[in-house]
Amino acid sequence: MSKLTAAITGVAYYTPPDILSNADLEKMVETNHEWIVSRTGIEERRILKGEGKATSFMGAEAVKKLLEKTDTDPKEIDLIICGTVTGDMIFPDTANQIGMKAGCTNSFGFDINAACSGFLFSINTGAQFIETGKYKKVIIVGADMMSSIVDYEDRATCILFGDAAGAVLLEPNKEGYGIQDSVLRADGSGVQYLNMKAGGSLIPASHESVDQRLHYAYQEGRTVFKHAVKGMVSATKDLLDQNELKPEEINWIIPHQANLRILESVANMMDFPIEKVLINIAKYGNTTSATIPLCMGENEKRFKKGDKVVLTAFGGGFTWGSTLLTWAYDPK
Ligand code: UT7
Repeated sequence: MSKLTAAITGVAYYTPPDILSNADLEKMVETNHEWIVSRTGIEERRILKGEGKATSFMGAEAVKKLLEKTDTDPKEIDLIICGTVTGDMIFPDTANQIGMKAGCTNSFGFDINAACSGFLFSINTGAQFIETGKYKKVIIVGADMMSSIVDYEDRATCILFGDAAGAVLLEPNKEGYGIQDSVLRADGSGVQYLNMKAGGSLIPASHESVDQRLHYAYQEGRTVFKHAVKGMVSATKDLLDQNELKPEEINWIIPHQANLRILESVANMMDFPIEKVLINIAKYGNTTSATIPLCMGENEKRFKKGDKVVLTAFGGGFTWGSTLLTWAYDPK
C-alpha cells in the first residue's frame, strides 16, 4: 500500500468586521501612523466585538465556511485541533466548543498552546492522525482573540495584535501531495521575553495581579525580533537541506505575520524573492495562531496543484519551525 500523506483539501477564514486603525490607536496611546507603519508594516487590525463572542465564535465561523466550501458534512469530521492562546476559558478546551458550534457531532478535539507557532504545531499534530490511516477528515484551526489579552495602555504591544481565525481540512492522499516534512523547535528559556504572567497556576488571578496588569500579553520586542528572524531562517534552511531543495524550487512561503521587517529579513537571508513571500500584515496585524491559515486562505486562488509551499512561524515559548507541503489542488 502506498504511504498516506496529509493533504490540505480546503482553507477558510473569518475576520471580524470591526477595524482598529492606526489613527484610532493614536487617540489611545502616544504613537503615530508613521511609526507603526515604518516599524511594523501594520495599518489596521480587526477586533471581535459583541457580547458572548470569543475565540470559539471566530473558529466556528471559519469551520462552517470550510465545511460549506469543501462540501463536507459536519458529521464526517473526526478530529478538530485548535491552536490558540486565547481560548474561551482556561478550561475546557476551545476546539470542542468550535466543533459543537459547527455541528461536528462525531468529532473529538483539543487545543495546542504554542503561541504564534500554534497553527504550525497543530497542523503537524493533525497530520499524524491522518498518516496512521485511522482518521479521514481532520480540521486544524488557528484562532486568537488577542484583543482580550492586549493592554491598550501599552503602546509597545497594543499596536501589533488583532483578532481572526482560519481553518484547513486535512485528508489522506495516496499520490504524495500534502505535508512532506517539518522542522519544529522550542526553547523554554524564551518564556521571560514573551508571556502573559497571571491567570495560570504560577500567579492565579488576584486583586494584586489585576492591579499590576499581569493579565496582559507582555513582550520584549527587540529580543523577540532577533530570535524570530534567526529561528525562522534556521528552521527553513534545515528543512530545505534535509529535503535537498533550493530556495528557488519553493513556490510560496506563508510566514507567521508578526512584523513586516522580520519577513523582509527572512526573505533576504534565505534568498527568497519577496514576491514569493505572502504578506497580509498591513490589514490584520499579528493574529497569533490565525496568521498562517488566514494568509493561506486569502491567497488560495494563486496556488496550483504541485506547488511547493513552506509555512514558517516563531512565537512565545519560544516555539518555532517550518513545514514543507506540496499543494494538493488547483484553484476552484
Ligand atoms: O509573534 C510573536 C513574535 N513577535 C514578534 O516577532 C515581534 C518582534 N518585535 C517587533 O516586532 C518589534 O520589536 C516591535 C515592533 C515590537 C518594536 O519595534 P522596535 O523597532 O524593536 O522598537 P523598540 O522596541 O526598539 O523601540 C524603539 C523606540 C523606543 O523609544 P526610545 O527608547 O528609542 O526613545 C520605544 O519607546 O520606539 C518607541 N516605541 C514607540 N514609539 C511610537 C515603542 N512603541 C512605540 C509606538 N509608537 N507604538
